[in-house]
Amino acid sequence: MSLRDFIEKYPERRYLMFGGKGGLGKTTFSATTAYWLAKQGFKVLVFSVDPQASLSDIFKCDIFGKGAVEIMPNLFAQEIDADQRIKAYQEEIRQKIRTMYGLEEVPEEIENYIQAAAAEPAMEESAIFDAVVDIVISGEYDYYIYDLVPLGHALYYLSMASVYDEWIDKITALRAEMAEYDKVAAVMQRSKETEEDQILQELMYIKNRINTSSGILTDKQKTAFFFVLVPEEMIILDTQKAAGMFAKYNVPLSGYVVNRVIPPELGKQNIPDYLRNRLEMQKGYLEKIDTLFGEQVLARVPEFERDITGLPMIEKVANAIFR
Ligand SMILES: Nc1ncnc2c1ncn2[C@@H]1O[C@H](COP(=O)(O)OP(=O)(O)OP(=O)(O)O)[C@@H](O)[C@H]1O
Ligand SMILES: [Mg+2]
Repeated sequence: MSLRDFIEKYPERRYLMFGGKGGLGKTTFSATTAYWLAKQGFKVLVFSVDPQASLSDIFKCDIFGKGAVEIMPNLFAQEIDADQRIKAYQEEIRQKIRTMYGLEEVPEEIENYIQAAAAEPAMEESAIFDAVVDIVISGEYDYYIYDLVPLGHALYYLSMASVYDEWIDKITALRAEMAEYDKVAAVMQRSKETEEDQILQELMYIKNRINTSSGILTDKQKTAFFFVLVPEEMIILDTQKAAGMFAKYNVPLSGYVVNRVIPPELGKQNIPDYLRNRLEMQKGYLEKIDTLFGEQVLARVPEFERDITGLPMIEKVANAIFR
C-alpha cells in the first residue's frame, strides 16, 4: 500500500501526523501532504507548535503567530506562538483583577507575580497544549495535519494529555463532592450557590475539551500517524524504539515513510565511488527497513537536489510521494 492508497482507503482519518527524530522530514511531508490534499479539493490545515517557525520557512511566508493563513486555495497553515498566547493570558488576568476590584492599575505586587508565573516553563506548555486543543476541536477543515516537534517532545505532549486528564478527573470529583456540601450550606444560607457551581462548570468545560482532543488524537478511526525515517543504522534503531513507546500511549501507528533515498538508477551511470558506496549502504538499510516494517512502509522519497522550500519544490515532492 502507498501513502496515497492509505489516505484514499481511509477517508475518515482526518487527523494526520508525521512524527520522527529531528530533521528527517516531518515538516516537509506535512506540508507536502497538505499541498496534495488541497489540490484534491479538500480544505486542509497544517499546523505546528514549533517555535522555529519551520512552516514559515517551507512555505516562504511569515505565518508565525498569525492564526490560520491561506497559502493557496484550500491550503491553510498555522504556527502557534506560545509567547503571544501567554501574553494574552496575562492580560486576561489583569483585566479580571481590574474589574473585580475596580482598579485602574494592577498593584505592583500582583503584577510581579503575573510576570513570574509567565516565566514558568509549565506555562508555555499549557499555552501550547491549549492552542492545539482549540485547533483540534474546531472542526472547520476536512483535514488537519499536525507537524510534530521531534520525537521526545511529541511523546511528552501526548503523555501530557493523559496526565492532564487524570489531574482534572481528580479535581472534578473533589469539586463535585464539595458541591454537595455547598448545596446543603447554600440551602441553609440561601446564597453563594451560583458562584461555586461556576467553578465546577469551568472544570467540566476544561475536562471536556481535553477529553475531546486527546480522544481525537488517539482515535484509530480518525487519526493516522506516520513515522518518518531515513535509511541509516541509528535512525532505524531509534524508530523501532519510538514505535514501541507510541504504542504505549495508544497512538495508532499507520505506517512509515522513508526519506532521502538516493535514486538507485544512479547506479547505472558512471558515478564516483563515494556515491556508489552510499548507494550500496542505503540498499542494505532499505532491505532492513522492509524486513522490519514490511507492508507498513508506505513511501520511499528520493533525496532531492536541494532543500524543500516554496510551492514548486513542494509540488515536486508531492509528485514523488503521491504518484
Ligand atoms: N528528500 C529530501 N531531499 C532534500 N532535502 C530534504 C528532503 N527531505 C527533507 N529535506 C530538507 O531537510 C531539512 C529538514 O527537513 P524537515 O524540516 O522537513 O525536517 P523535520 O523532521 O521537520 O525537522 P525538525 O525535527 O527540526 O522539525 C530541510 O531543510 C528540508 O528541506
Ligand atoms: Mg519540523
